[in-house]
Amino acid sequence: MKILVTRKIPEPGLRKLKNFNAQLTINQEDRNLKHEELNNLASDADAVLAMLADNIDADFLKSHPGLKIIANYAVGFNNVDIEAATNNNVVVTNTPGVLTDTTADLAWSLLMAISRRVVEADKYTRAGKFKGWAPELHFGSDIYGKTLGIIGAGRIGQATARRAAGFDMKVLYHSRSQKEDFEKETGALKVGLDNLLKESDFVSLHVPLTDETHYMIDADELRLMKNNAFLINTARGPVINEKILARALQENWIAGAALDVFEEEPKVHPQLLNLDNVILTPHIGSATDKTRNKMAEMAAESIIDVLSGQKPENVVNSNIYDK
Ligand code: NAP
Ligand code: GLV
Ligand code: GLV
Repeated sequence: MKILVTRKIPEPGLRKLKNFNAQLTINQEDRNLKHEELNNLASDADAVLAMLADNIDADFLKSHPGLKIIANYAVGFNNVDIEAATNNNVVVTNTPGVLTDTTADLAWSLLMAISRRVVEADKYTRAGKFKGWAPELHFGSDIYGKTLGIIGAGRIGQATARRAAGFDMKVLYHSRSQKEDFEKETGALKVGLDNLLKESDFVSLHVPLTDETHYMIDADELRLMKNNAFLINTARGPVINEKILARALQENWIAGAALDVFEEEPKVHPQLLNLDNVILTPHIGSATDKTRNKMAEMAAESIIDVLSGQKPENVVNSNIYDK
């Protein structure tokens, strides 16, 4: 059996794979594989442990007939053509749950940093501009008592909402289905997208990237938001029209944005780089050692399960087992 790991993952995951009786190829470069490299290295692989930047499209799946599993090292799987995987009898797994709280923590880090202008204040202090406490220095916006709007009330959206209790916030959510337990626990109210955008002081995105959620936040939606509201994105870049967002921030349609994900990673829209009312982080939602170790173990276990003829825990295309 041959396993390809498209980029070095934390040791706990590698250890599991090394202890499994298979031929292991690990990309040793400190960068993602180019599509052609991925194609070649995976040529006779039974399993690929893939990164979210690896484009596992229909062509790739068709041209690797021996492939049995793609274990995506992420909860999001928009980089994999799921239908083509199923058609080609390839199991797709992801890493849900273990990164939920870590990612919700980052959403809050961004929310707090943008509203109190922490990054700007740090730059100001380092630049030697701090000349002593001043009555009107560097005003930000309060967080407590405000309204938080969660778009996509799944695992991470709900975990982000739960954290609002300590800030006495009102929580609104927009999702496809009603979440009664979540409502009971947090007092969150389900509203339509337009009302959420009109009423929230903080809008936090937690939907997966799909055809439906692509550009879910475009000009009309940004126009609906209050001009003192903030937009937080730890979901996927293309959920927002980034070019329009840059314009909205420049023209103060909204007060600010904090983004962990971008439309064409690793590119960032150049206009965003020059604005003070935006915080930019390099897709670090799940980036703590504990969480990345768990994700690595989970992806490795999925591969070992499939290559041992077992059904892994986190199958995305579970209908493949009904075929
Ligand atoms: P999840 O549990 O599947 O939650 C996603 C939620 O989005 C679901 O509850 C779903 O609603 C909702 N949704 C889907 N399509 C929708 C639509 N068209 N309109 C409204 N709501 C919609 O997934 P998760 O584990 O919370 O992860 C969410 C996403 O976060 C991932 O897909 C990934 O892209 C991103 N992520 C990013 C990072 C990072 O590093 N920044 C880390 C982890 C995850 P219903 O339940 O109502 O059907
Ligand atoms: C990260 O973005 C993930 O989807 O796990
Ligand atoms: C500020 O530092 C205060 O004591 O109010």
